[in-house]
Amino acid sequence: MQGTLKISFIALFLAGCSTLPSTDRQAQMADEARATAMGLMQTLGGELKNHMAADGPANAIGVCKDLAPAIAKDASQRTGMMIKRVSTKNRNPKGVPDAWEAAAISDFEKRLAAGEKVERLETYTVVEDGGKQTFRYAKALVTQAMCLECHGAPENMRDDVKAKLVQEYPNDKAVGYSAGQVRGIITMRKPL
Ligand code: HEC
Repeated sequence: MQGTLKISFIALFLAGCSTLPSTDRQAQMADEARATAMGLMQTLGGELKNHMAADGPANAIGVCKDLAPAIAKDASQRTGMMIKRVSTKNRNPKGVPDAWEAAAISDFEKRLAAGEKVERLETYTVVEDGGKQTFRYAKALVTQAMCLECHGAPENMRDDVKAKLVQEYPNDKAVGYSAGQVRGIITMRKPL
């Protein structure tokens, strides 16, 4: 009797522990996440370039402020993933990384310094989050020359850009970058 009880307890316990998705399934989810991240980067980068050329960088700040979250929201609805951009030196007050994201950023910085190609700077995993398995993905966003108009050393930035940034983001930490640095990440999560 005791033995049977023990076995049924073990069976119950095992049934409660769902197994991790296979390596193949995780790689497939990462492919989807990567495609979504690249789409976001292309759309945002394109819009930024157009607005900067047409209206100047100070007016293009609105593109980042309004369009970036809007594009991310749209992609979230399409894919069922929660998508945002975060940074350890964030401009948007909501762009603070959690522990997993901060570790990803620091890992990307090391890999970039060790010579890894920018396009390859990504990581993914499945974690337990509030009792639910959750797929997590991060891709590095690395500064190019264009980014420095709004994220560079303040002494090299235009006065109208600086004035607009101070007004919109009084606690801005996202300046002082040079080209080829990890500015932050696109981060995605999907409960499974
Ligand atoms: C025209 C000015 C401008 C340019 C150019 C620009 N950004 Fe930004 N960036 C912003 C603004 C404004 C925000 C805050 C957006 C918000 O409110 O969500 C921001 C936010 C971010 C964030 C989100 C994390 C945070 O700090 O809040 C990342 C990552 C980022 N930018 C990367 C880049 C990269 C990489 C480039 C170049 C490809 C770039 N930016 C070019 C203005 C700019």
